[in-house]
Amino acid sequence: MIGFEEYLRTHLPSAPSFHPTFDEALGAMLLAGGKRFRPKLLLSVVEAYTPLLVEGAYPVAMAVEMLHTYSLIHDDLPVMDDADLRRGEPTLHKRFDEVTAVLVGDALNTHTFYLIADAPLHNDVKVPLVKELAFNGGIGGMVLGQAIDCHFEGEKLRADEVDFLHECKTGRLIAASLKMGAIIAGLDQKMQEALYGFGLDLGLLFQIQDDIIDATQSRETAGKTTGNDEAKNSYINHYGLEGSIERADALSRKVRENLESFDAPLKERLEPLLTHYLNRHKG
Ligand code: IPE
Ligand code: IPE
Ligand code: MG
Ligand code: MG
Ligand code: MG
Repeated sequence: MIGFEEYLRTHLPSAPSFHPTFDEALGAMLLAGGKRFRPKLLLSVVEAYTPLLVEGAYPVAMAVEMLHTYSLIHDDLPVMDDADLRRGEPTLHKRFDEVTAVLVGDALNTHTFYLIADAPLHNDVKVPLVKELAFNGGIGGMVLGQAIDCHFEGEKLRADEVDFLHECKTGRLIAASLKMGAIIAGLDQKMQEALYGFGLDLGLLFQIQDDIIDATQSRETAGKTTGNDEAKNSYINHYGLEGSIERADALSRKVRENLESFDAPLKERLEPLLTHYLNRHKG
């Protein structure tokens, strides 16, 4: 069995036509790399409980990564964060043009659901997967979070609103990735919800650390435009660097505690993915 990264690179979406660049643009941001955090979370759950289903879960893991990649392509557009570097490469609208970046994002979004529909899994599993991803990646999560993030630029939100923004924007897709792994593995409702709740905390921790990266890392180190959150309701702008680190520490402890409560096979697989986030700060 090939690894997930090789699977992704050999199963890129393709739209051959006489358009001179669209096909190349379609795969460019997926090929550029990234941490593959969300597909790895999903596959860890499947591998822990039902290793024989891992290969069948690859298209679903790829779908999650594809939806996330679309969100980044649109996030970088001039009307949103206006960024010129992503995954160590020029953003899609810089390398091609804005129309291409908008349409590649649209294409990756819709193709996400094609991949799930086409996966070698039972329809009784695929329908709940579509539901989770469509909601958490859309109006129940990422899209709503992005709308709030952009609308309230330059306007300070309340603390609970800041948490809601970031839970939607980042937390819910991360939570859904874990829950989708649980759905594929056939875990019961209770475990699906436990993983979703764990993912919300992890996702918030992930976003606080992303805000810390924006404030502390160079574009070369981060591989993306940084110093870009000045007008945002970022954790840095609300709590300062020290306060954000404290918040991250507290969340780290909570995530670690919850991780300890999982079965050994799951813990073993999630731990290596999370050490970077959990051991980042002392405390
Ligand atoms: C960046 O996501 C945007 C956030 C939601 C914080 P990642 O940090 O997962 O970006 P890649 O996939 O590794 O490029
Ligand atoms: C964007 O958050 C999260 C998405 C849903 C794409 P950011 O705007 O902070 O992500 P980066 O820092 O550009 O990767
Ligand atoms: Mg943004
Ligand atoms: Mg951004
Ligand atoms: Mg950021």
